[in-house]
Amino acid sequence: MPRIIIYSVMVLLMLALIPPVVAARVRASPSPNRPIHIIQDMDIQAKFKPQTLNPIYADQRAMRPEVVGAVARGETFLDTHLENGVVDGGWATSLPDAVARDLETVERGRQRYNIYCAPCHGWNGAGNGPVNQRALDLMNNADGPPDGTSWTQARNLHDPGWSEQPIGQIYNTITNGKNSMAGYGSQVVVADRWAIALYVKALQRSQNATLQDVPADQRSELNR
Ligand code: HEC
Repeated sequence: MPRIIIYSVMVLLMLALIPPVVAARVRASPSPNRPIHIIQDMDIQAKFKPQTLNPIYADQRAMRPEVVGAVARGETFLDTHLENGVVDGGWATSLPDAVARDLETVERGRQRYNIYCAPCHGWNGAGNGPVNQRALDLMNNADGPPDGTSWTQARNLHDPGWSEQPIGQIYNTITNGKNSMAGYGSQVVVADRWAIALYVKALQRSQNATLQDVPADQRSELNR
């Protein structure tokens, strides 16, 4: 191959490197100017930014407060059964219409319970989860100095008086907490809170179950 061609190709390759290097350099160096913005769409437009003044309004606040009495979509909270676990002023004893009473909900509840509740209440609901173990270990630390730890054991959900709690009351405890237990309303969505409550009811029933609670076709041959 003639040298002239080889040299030309090499020079062209070198030249081809210049644009990407320039682009990389410009991208990496700060500039007070706006980037070149070929297609504007609505990216750059007159607007009021948060926490700035807007002389149109008497109080000059660009950020407008909510209109009194306005209700955001999805925030009516009028269904007391669904939102509060309350029916006619008493604790609901059934699931709200929006939550399906099926195995899928129970399974979802089990998964959420094992994440949010089991650390304290234990996988079986008896109040002996790993956090409880750890707290007891800390408090009973005979060798170390007293560390000021005090601990209220999570409720054994099978205690008489608690095992019969209506599902709406359990939903309420999950939502708002109870005494020294914090609420989970801000972390767990409504449907999942009902699923957990349903699972707790299943867990409670499982502790005092009779053979009649097991569907006939799932009992062992011996017990039919
Ligand atoms: C950080 C530990 C902790 C976690 C996590 C926790 N609980 Fe509790 N729970 C407690 C304690 C402590 C009590 C007892 C509160 C009291 O009466 O002082 C309690 C009480 C309860 C009660 C009885 C309330 C009553 O009416 O007296 C229920 C029901 C309950 N918890 C359900 C749950 C469920 C369901 C979850 C998961 C969403 C959960 N808890 C997560 C610590 C916990």
